[in-house]
Amino acid sequence: MLIIPTWLALLLVITTYTQHLHAQTPPANAANPHYAALLNNSMWFYEAQRSGKLPSSNRVPWRHDSGLQDGQDQKVDLTGGYYDAGDYLKFTLPLAHSLALIAWGGIEWYDGYARANQTSYLQDTLRWGTDWLMKAHPDASTLYVQVGSGHVDNNYWGPDTDIPTPRPSYAITTKATGTDVAGMTAAALASTSYLYATLANDTNYASALSTAAQSVYNLAETQPFQVYTKSVSAAAGLYQTNSFASQLVYGALWLYKATGNTTYRDKAANYYDQFKLGSVSVTPMDWSDATGAVHVLGAQLDPTKYAAGAKKWLDTMTSSSSGSPCTFTRGGMLWCNGYSNSNAMVPLQDTALLALLHSRHNPSTSEQYVKFASKQIDYMLGGNYMLTPYVCGIHANSPHNPHHAGASGGTDIDHIDTSPAQELHLLYGAVVGGPNKDDLFFDERTDWSQTEVALDYNAPFQGLMAYQISTNAADPPYVTITSPRPDVHRSFSFPDWLLAAIVITVVFILAGIGYYAWLKRHALKRRFSKNKEQVVSV
Ligand SMILES: *[C@@H]1O[C@H](CO)[C@@H](O)[C@H](O)[C@H]1NC(C)=O
Ligand SMILES: *[C@@H]1O[C@H](CO)[C@@H](O)[C@H](O)[C@H]1NC(C)=O
Ligand SMILES: *[C@@H]1O[C@H](CO)[C@@H](O)[C@H](O)[C@H]1NC(C)=O
Ligand SMILES: *[C@@H]1O[C@H](CO)[C@@H](O)[C@H](O)[C@H]1NC(C)=O
Repeated sequence: MLIIPTWLALLLVITTYTQHLHAQTPPANAANPHYAALLNNSMWFYEAQRSGKLPSSNRVPWRHDSGLQDGQDQKVDLTGGYYDAGDYLKFTLPLAHSLALIAWGGIEWYDGYARANQTSYLQDTLRWGTDWLMKAHPDASTLYVQVGSGHVDNNYWGPDTDIPTPRPSYAITTKATGTDVAGMTAAALASTSYLYATLANDTNYASALSTAAQSVYNLAETQPFQVYTKSVSAAAGLYQTNSFASQLVYGALWLYKATGNTTYRDKAANYYDQFKLGSVSVTPMDWSDATGAVHVLGAQLDPTKYAAGAKKWLDTMTSSSSGSPCTFTRGGMLWCNGYSNSNAMVPLQDTALLALLHSRHNPSTSEQYVKFASKQIDYMLGGNYMLTPYVCGIHANSPHNPHHAGASGGTDIDHIDTSPAQELHLLYGAVVGGPNKDDLFFDERTDWSQTEVALDYNAPFQGLMAYQISTNAADPPYVTITSPRPDVHRSFSFPDWLLAAIVITVVFILAGIGYYAWLKRHALKRRFSKNKEQVVSV
């Protein structure tokens, strides 16, 4: 038990020292080696999530060809793509959201990827996803949105060599619509098309993506507009949104950027007005809600229409002003109640990414947004009470227990934490859910709110790291951390109703004691005055 941490620490020292040596003679324009390693590891994480027949270039030894029958129940080929999290389900909505964010960060900070030698990985990562999205849209009236059943899959904990079946496939169609997922898929395909056309110089692939994006957007516009879980109840409770409006606008905006066709700019503007996205209350941006992204992307493409909304969204999200759904923890982490609770690193990163994307196009008015984002990135990378970068495999204090069946090496779903005690495979680059509202992190596999990993957790991370490289940011905080992570334990926290009951009981007891004391004093006083009378009368 003791040998392994010592060995790891030694390895860390050697690695850090070697990186130090390299840093002394940097090649011209070389990336900061720490952010380059993080970006590379984040790419590696996506490789670890790959489903289907793997290419010979696969770098993840414990990931095998898997899910090779996917789609057969519907006589379509749905092999490939990415597993969503530490499980074996495939979902279109969070995948599309993730791809659009990766593509966006890639478009804006391609030079960061280039300096870290990651541009071919960036293209491969996107393409592994968009190839699958195109398979999932086999004809104009169909989009597959889920492969695998939550009931079957969530009862399995083990490697990819024994994935439980059946793995049913679910689709939205022109008869059973799903506006949100189709709009988001259009955004993913169009943003990746733009990247391939302008940066990767693959016009054939770019045009295939653009054609598919326009086709799936037609499906998004098919009435009735509704969230896709109305049509596919299997996804309800797993990836369910509250509204389809933001995705409808987001898809159109990306199509406008990718094609230059002003029809899409006008569609975006019309839906934005129809669904009053300019005046809805500010909510964090994530896979379920693209409103923040709509404002920021819109401000780039059609400033007259969206700039005010972008400013309002960013001002509200990055400060704890009234009307903000977020505050800051004692340690300075952005905390959005109801969002951060189950994955604190997600609203933090998504907000930081939008802040930086906006600042890139509006540098003179964005100083406070950049400050906000830099602070949040530092928090995430070790500038926190736990001295922990919330990314696996980069530092001795990194999370050791991501909630990931394949990486854990375990097969006993009833003893996820202990079997095995130590993860079998390091899940390099995986961003975990993160700490709680008290800035505490317990690193337990069963605590999915803290240790879950998923496609959408690493998507903004890529853009953030590319930004750090592009702007020559100072080393991440973990680089100088040598102390171990503080050993914290869960304090028992009372449920609110119990706390209320205890307070009421205590108040009653105190009142009782007070009344008793008052009675006693009164009796004493009476007795005392009676004695006095007696004394007098004697
Ligand atoms: C990228 O990350 C993987 C996993 O940590 C590692 O094996 C590989 O050497 C890294 N490549 C570079 C260029 O840093
Ligand atoms: C990128 O590749 C070049 C040439 O192969 C090499 O000199 C450089 O150190 C690499 N940079 C990183 C960050 O891996
Ligand atoms: C793409 O083409 C442009 C213009 O022809 C060129 O400047 C750029 O280096 C090329 N990029 C790649 C990745 O080939
Ligand atoms: C722009 O897109 C619309 C909607 O898809 C299409 O009808 C129109 O022909 C396109 N215009 C051009 C110039 O491609």
